This record gives sequence, structure tokens and C-alpha cells, in this order.
Amino acid sequence: MSDWREPWLRARERIADLYGRHVGESIDVLPTPALVVDVDALQRNIATMMAALDGQTARLRPHTKVQKSPDIALMQVYAGAIGVTVASVWEAAAMAAADVGDILIANELVPPDRVAAAAALAAHARLTLAVDDARNIDALSAAMTSRGTEADVLVDVDVGMGRCGARSPEEALRLAAQVQAAPGLRLRGVMAYEGHCMLEPDPERRTRLAGRAMDHAASVKELFRAEGLPADTLSMGGTGTYNITGRNPQVTELQAGSYVFMDAFHGNLVPGFEVSLTVLTSVIARHGDTVILDAGRKSIGIDFVLPPMLGHDYVARYYAEEHALFDTDDRFRADIGDRVRLVSGYAPTTVNLHDVLFAVRDDQVVDVWPVFPRGPGHSGFLTSLERG
Ligand SMILES: Cc1ncc(COP(=O)(O)O)c(C=O)c1O
Repeated sequence: MSDWREPWLRARERIADLYGRHVGESIDVLPTPALVVDVDALQRNIATMMAALDGQTARLRPHTKVQKSPDIALMQVYAGAIGVTVASVWEAAAMAAADVGDILIANELVPPDRVAAAAALAAHARLTLAVDDARNIDALSAAMTSRGTEADVLVDVDVGMGRCGARSPEEALRLAAQVQAAPGLRLRGVMAYEGHCMLEPDPERRTRLAGRAMDHAASVKELFRAEGLPADTLSMGGTGTYNITGRNPQVTELQAGSYVFMDAFHGNLVPGFEVSLTVLTSVIARHGDTVILDAGRKSIGIDFVLPPMLGHDYVARYYAEEHALFDTDDRFRADIGDRVRLVSGYAPTTVNLHDVLFAVRDDQVVDVWPVFPRGPGHSGFLTSLERG
């Protein structure tokens, strides 16, 4: 097979081959730990987010680093998302290979392999890239020109998180003017990420902080316009600010992604979405009220919040590599061999630990979806894009 989509096509085949036998099975017999998606809850979350943006300026461009699943991304696009956001060019390649045609890579592409991959991939999908450095703009422009491709570009502006992004409006304007003059690149506007607001538990303070972040990003966009530069797009936001950023008329794209699964971290911050992703575990020991499950840090993300049990408020004593230990009480009935579902602390670092998402309806497996690409590597796309 010589096709730039080969890594994705192979991943899909491999997952169907190795895990397809579980389709039709009850989750009571699924080997644990298993990553399980309740398809009905997932679809309700997708519909709830679309309804929340109904009538707003902002259109949804969901961040798909959360689920790393082209199957779910396509469901979001069919429901009305304008395209997707991804964190890496390899995630972009997987989405494009699965026919998601409009992709924002919300991260600086600097190492030469990623620049070259973006230039190659731009032949197969509409790509939007984020930049915050003059040298990087030169490199992207040169790569696009030599490949004969083009990409849209947003100038990344830091709005208080202190991660990537131009540190001042003047710097952003210089970068925008450079992009505008660069062959192979089309200036579209501004990208920002108010990540520092997502962690703010107090909704009023979060609203104030996010308001400041949006005003800053919007003022940079207006500055581009005042200088005669194209600036139709302001792309920002996440699940923690979807009902703040998503309602601001200055924002044209909302990058919320975690709402599809609703992990414990986001669930504590924003009500209104259902837990659709769980890790199905087995009880492997019970000593009095101390219950030990067969899922640890190798199967569930514990960033920000220790994963709780679905439907219980017991707090985990700890998570080891392959064990979760809960102190329960005499109301807790599960004994060895029984199944218990955990809500991930943080979905993006849970999904990444698994090969496959088991799509489930009424506790029966209805499909198997590859988690792709897993990990930070290129998953074969470096080679296939070079060849293709
Ligand atoms: C650039 C960017 N946009 C948006 C998001 C929001 O994603 P979520 O909805 O999962 O909070 C993130 C999360 O890390 C991000 O890094």
C-alpha cells in the first residue's frame, strides 16, 4: 500500500481485527481495564454544545486531542462543527486521512519534520497553522512554496497563560505583516488560549478573567484590521469557558473539546454535560471496606483530579501503576470479580493510554474506534507523507 493515509487505514484495520470480536458483547465480559464510551451520552453532549452555540457568532471547532478519535470527530462535524482543532500535525494527518477536511493545528510547528509534514498535508486538507515567531513563519513559507501548497495562518497571541503566543500587540502585528507578505501562507486572524481561566473554580472570577483575555485577543484582531490586514478569525476557548468565550460576539471559533467526554476535572467546573467516557475495571481484592481495582496510572489519567467511581463519592486513597485503592463502607456492594466504572480525572491523558475506545449502547459494545495517533510520535505519518 502506498498512500499517505496508510497509518490511519492500517490502524482502523488493526483495531477491527483485534477488537472487533467484542462487538455485540455485554460490557460485563469485556477484558478490563477497558476504555468505554457511552454513545448516547456522547451524542447528547455533542447536541448540547451545538445548542449552546445556536445564535452566537462563535462556531464550534472542537479540540480533538481530547479523544484522538477520527470517528468521534466526524460525529462532531456531522452535527455542525466547522472543522476540528488538533495539537499536533500527526493528529491533523489522522483527521485528514479520515476525511475531516478543515483542521486548525493550535500549536507551533517548529522542528523541520513537522514543518515538512504540514506542507505535505496541506495538499490534502485545509490547514490552519498558529505562529508566534518570525523564523518559523519563514520556515513554513519556504516549505509550502517548495511543495506548491498553501495554508491559512493565525497569529498566536498570549492572553495571560504565558505559554506560546506573541507577548505584545506590536509583536503580533509585526508577525501578521510578515505572514501577509509570505508566499504559501494566508493570514486569517488571531488565535489565543485562555488556559489560565479554565483552572479558576469561581465562575464569577473565571468570567472576569476570560473577559479580559478575550478583550485582549479581540483588540489585536482589530489592530490587524486597522492596518489593513485580513483578520476575520478569532479562535479560542475551551470547555471551561464555553459559556463565556462562546457567547462573546468577538469570538468566531470556539475550541472546546472535553465536553464530549466530560471528565472529573471539567465536570467540577462546568455543569450541563454527561460523563460519557469511563474506564471499566474489575475488583481484584476486597479487604473489609478497602476495595482494590485493576486500573492505575497505566490506564487512567489522574492529572488535576483523582478519578472517582461513577455513581459514588468515595475518594481514591491512591492510584498505583496497575491498582486503584478506595476506602468504601458497608453500603458498597461490589466484591472480587465485579465491575466498577471510573470517571477519568483528565480525559486527554486517559485516552492516550489505550489502543481502542469501546463504543457502547445500553451496556452492549456496538463498535470499536481506534485511538489514533497515540503518544507523541508520528505514528508512521512522517514516512507516508514523505512518500505520498
Ligand atoms: C489550544 C487549546 N485550545 C483549546 C483547549 C480546550 O480544550 P478543552 O475543551 O479540552 O478544555 C486546549 C486545552 O488544552 C488547548 O490547549
